[in-house]
Amino acid sequence: AEDGYDLWLRYRPLPAAQAPRVGAITVKGDSPMLQAAATELQRGLSGLSGTRVALAPTAVAGGIVVAGARDPAVTALKLPTAALGEEGYLVRAVRLSGIPVTLVTANSDRGLLYGSFALLRRLQTGSDVAETSAPKVRLRLLNHWDNLDGSVERGYAGQSLWDWWMLPDFADPRYTDYARANASIGINGTVLNNVNASADSLTAPYLAKAAALADVFRRYGIKVYLSVRFSAPVEIGGLKTADPLDPAVAAWWRAKTDEVYAAIPDFGGFLVKANSEGQPGPRDYQRSHADGANMLAAAIAPHKGLIMWRAFVYADDNPDDRAKQAYADFKPLDGKFAANVIVQVKNGAIDFQPREPFHPLFGAMPQTPLMMEFQITKEYLGMATHLAWLGPMFEETLRSDTLQKGKGSTVARVVDGSLHGHALTGMAGVANVGRDRDWAGSTFNQANWFAFGRFAWNPAADSDTVAGEWAAMTFGPDPALVDKIVGIMAGSREAVVDYTSPLGLTHQMATGHHYGPGPWVSDLKRPEWNPVYYARADRQGIGFDRTASGSNAIAQYAPAFARPLADPATTPARDLLWFHHVPWTHRMASGRTLWEELVTRYNAGVTTVAAMRRDWAALQPQIDADRFAKTATFLAVQEREARWWRDASIAYWMSVNGLPLPAGAAPPA
Ligand code: GCU
Repeated sequence: AEDGYDLWLRYRPLPAAQAPRVGAITVKGDSPMLQAAATELQRGLSGLSGTRVALAPTAVAGGIVVAGARDPAVTALKLPTAALGEEGYLVRAVRLSGIPVTLVTANSDRGLLYGSFALLRRLQTGSDVAETSAPKVRLRLLNHWDNLDGSVERGYAGQSLWDWWMLPDFADPRYTDYARANASIGINGTVLNNVNASADSLTAPYLAKAAALADVFRRYGIKVYLSVRFSAPVEIGGLKTADPLDPAVAAWWRAKTDEVYAAIPDFGGFLVKANSEGQPGPRDYQRSHADGANMLAAAIAPHKGLIMWRAFVYADDNPDDRAKQAYADFKPLDGKFAANVIVQVKNGAIDFQPREPFHPLFGAMPQTPLMMEFQITKEYLGMATHLAWLGPMFEETLRSDTLQKGKGSTVARVVDGSLHGHALTGMAGVANVGRDRDWAGSTFNQANWFAFGRFAWNPAADSDTVAGEWAAMTFGPDPALVDKIVGIMAGSREAVVDYTSPLGLTHQMATGHHYGPGPWVSDLKRPEWNPVYYARADRQGIGFDRTASGSNAIAQYAPAFARPLADPATTPARDLLWFHHVPWTHRMASGRTLWEELVTRYNAGVTTVAAMRRDWAALQPQIDADRFAKTATFLAVQEREARWWRDASIAYWMSVNGLPLPAGAAPPA
């Protein structure tokens, strides 16, 4: 039965006309990484062709050759390999010493591994095999929010993949398959544990466990990183303080870091959530985020490690607008961070909502490398159940033009370092991976993992293209089928926006679980936890005024970007209530009043899900029974819950505005 375990690396036989006919596979070299490449090529090509493909020590006509750019036979071809850098690859049909072969070449074993996966992807998607590619972003990392007790913060695909009890002795074969999947999309690092970190992750037993995982991942080019708890020197070090300027604290971190590198020589670095949502941090000692980050950076610099310091902060000073706090705290620190620190910024200023305008820090800290943090797991988009393809969301954020250095100052160019000339660049994705047989809780959630890797490799990637690749690899390359699946995916995220939080509404979910609707919630301890804080609905109107007459958060953007946002008429409708408080009677460009438009959008969300469900049902003859049935069931749940969101939200707004349901907007039964 198809249970989704194979992800997009399914390698089922292709139709005869498309099946590769490969003489043999020749991999020049035998490092562990090249052995991984050889094993994958053999597995993939044997699967796709339906016959076992052999490994051969020397090139055979019609074969595949994997060889480094410095191999004399490759050098003789004078291919443009210099541009590939350390991680890129080139795949091309050539005559190698007179023998016609498909060549995979690169400047490193890692590039050869990526090139091997690329070749398989080209075959799986029915594309011409020629491809030249190099990643535009250096750190392409998953962030696991996994706890040491096996639970996963905001994870919906079962318990943690890491079996901390059986590690380090037993390395579950799943870890290898996890590494294969990641390598196939260019992910080169993984943060093993939750940003709400336990200090115990830095104790000797857990370092040994992390080292065992690193041993599995290494041959797939994946480095291990850890989230650390800022107060660890107190909790596991016996110190009285974690003050970053205290010499004993700095010395503790130096010794601890040395211990980490003794266990994991190629360890990547630390990720830190500090002074956010109750986590300890330098501000507990009246020190700045830079003081905290730089102290850790000094400890890890001798090992060439990195500190990823998160800008997701909101705490203590109870801001007039939560959306402003990260910028307020971090912008003044631009230029104050050590060279091996990168600041990790969520895509938007609140918290992974179905839609947020890009975070105002992007483009605003020219002297500081900033990395993107996306959430792959769908905390606010229906968790594992709802089908929400995140490609359009990644694309929308990355293509946003900050206008910080004139036109073309896109978020993608901040992230790839080209806007301000940074070599240290990165993108992190909060992982949606757990112990479920299908890894991510549903087949379509796998697509978001895949998309994250593709966008981290190339922030200028195109969402529909990525969806097409994934669909072909996951369901087979029949173009008509792929088109239909891409069609179902394409509008799915917008549907979630519509039925949960249309027109720039945000943070409307119920308390704690973040799954269902809760626009009425107003009694939580911190004001900015309450949905009513964001919608600010009353009898007259709705929305959060972030212009000069309100919190003036728009002033955190470049003036040219902020200017149109000062006026509802020149603010994109999709962000209207994010930036403005407007009367229910406000006239929209569509000619409808705001109230009518809002109800129209809620209905559109439900209608789209109903259409997705019908479109999926029509594919039954073309999809294996198990994967078909699970998705069909999930879509039924989603349709029911889209109605729940819509009906609960509209009923609540009516209780506030006293308006009748707009004519013709009566929800379908
Ligand atoms: C969200 C999420 C938390 C998480 C936090 C973070 O607020 O609900 O569970 O810890 O983001 O990113 O640190």
